[in-house]
Amino acid sequence: MPVNVFANFEDGLEPSARQRDHFITDLDFDDERLWVPYGETAWFQPCRFDVTTGGFTAVLKALPGTVVPKHYHVSTVQGWTLQGSWRYLEHDWVATAGTFIFEPSGESHTLVIPEDATETAIILFVVSGALIFTDDEGNFAAYEDGFTMLELARAHYREQGLDVSRLDALIR
Ligand SMILES: [Fe+2]
Repeated sequence: MPVNVFANFEDGLEPSARQRDHFITDLDFDDERLWVPYGETAWFQPCRFDVTTGGFTAVLKALPGTVVPKHYHVSTVQGWTLQGSWRYLEHDWVATAGTFIFEPSGESHTLVIPEDATETAIILFVVSGALIFTDDEGNFAAYEDGFTMLELARAHYREQGLDVSRLDALIR
């Protein structure tokens, strides 16, 4: 979809509905409906749609063998692994349950769950700003940010008959 359909004045919220107070959200890993598909073998549950940096906070669940294609982060990423293992093709470390990572702005990487992993990976990611997916030549392929993730989640919630206003409550 065109990137320029996303703007903070077109996210479906009235300016007066934008909130500045705290919120909490309770994820439910056992409720399959709440997992928003992200490719064939990965899903996410959103924690926050960040209309300040354009990023998002979400828990990613991915089966062994999953590849999230190469993408560039314009800003920072923080990740904490709750379960399973994962790595980036561009680095030689492997994250396992308990591993925290901070990635400075300007990182380009390909996320993989090893084929021989014995568990589904579950990772909390706190992403500032956008991701730009690139092709093999390093050219633009696709775009993702808190606004596109919100649209993905809304489409899934509508499909599942879930209350879409639960997602609006996660916008800050
Ligand atoms: Fe990434």
